Amino acid sequence: MSESPHLVVLSGAGISAESGIATFRASDGLWENHPVEAVATPEGWARDPERVLRFYDARRDQVRRARPNAAHKALAALEKRGFRVSIITQNIDDLHERAGSRRVLHLHGEILQARSTADPGMRYPLRRGGIRLGDLCDLGSQLRPDVVWFGEPVPRYVEAQEVVAEADLLLVVGTSLAVMPAASLLHQAPLDAEAILVDPQAHQLAPPGVVRLNQPAGQGVPALVRHWTREGRLWMPETLLE
Ligand code: APR
Repeated sequence: MSESPHLVVLSGAGISAESGIATFRASDGLWENHPVEAVATPEGWARDPERVLRFYDARRDQVRRARPNAAHKALAALEKRGFRVSIITQNIDDLHERAGSRRVLHLHGEILQARSTADPGMRYPLRRGGIRLGDLCDLGSQLRPDVVWFGEPVPRYVEAQEVVAEADLLLVVGTSLAVMPAASLLHQAPLDAEAILVDPQAHQLAPPGVVRLNQPAGQGVPALVRHWTREGRLWMPETLLE
């Protein structure tokens, strides 16, 4: 087995902040002025599905207008240079894919897909437009956004655990590590795999043993990638760290 070292990236809302997509916890439990429980829980959906659909329509338009930033692009470029890169993202946008990354696992679903309310495995790409009440899956049930809401299971968690278990280096970017089970992925890495957190709040957020790079993603990630491509290996460049 002589596979090249494996970089596993865990990304959160902060990696898309510089593309103009708002993070969650910056806004006091409000998400674009909506209480989270009204728009991101099964109870909210049961109470007012129209509100939920309108909310995700607006988010989807925002995602379609956004462009990948320097952090998304640097990770895609690293993969293109022959590095083994797997991305596990909590984000529902497609900015990693649009930057060119090919191995992207969406832990919390994808806003550019609809899914059946009867069978979570039935998904439909949303190439344009949104979801209306009355839009049905092939089984005749209402479609909903393919997004994991609070209180719902995370179907791809086991798969994500398996990816992390094969990491040589873990790069965590732009996540407050506040939401389970995503945050616990950090602890699934092999004991000898180092972990680094790139986040302007890294000093406050990083658990013990995680190296902190207190920078926005668009600055910190390209800087790391430059080091790795220059040397042709994954390593922890001490000079970048405080
Ligand atoms: N670069 C990097 N990180 C940034 C930047 C930036 N330019 N701007 C903000 N951040 C950081 C913040 O410091 C914060 O630590 O991004 C993080 C965003 O945290 P959250 O808003 O909590 O987002 P995230 O961790 O992705 O949330 C997890 O919660 O609401 C649910 O399902 C939703 O996937 C989401 C999950």
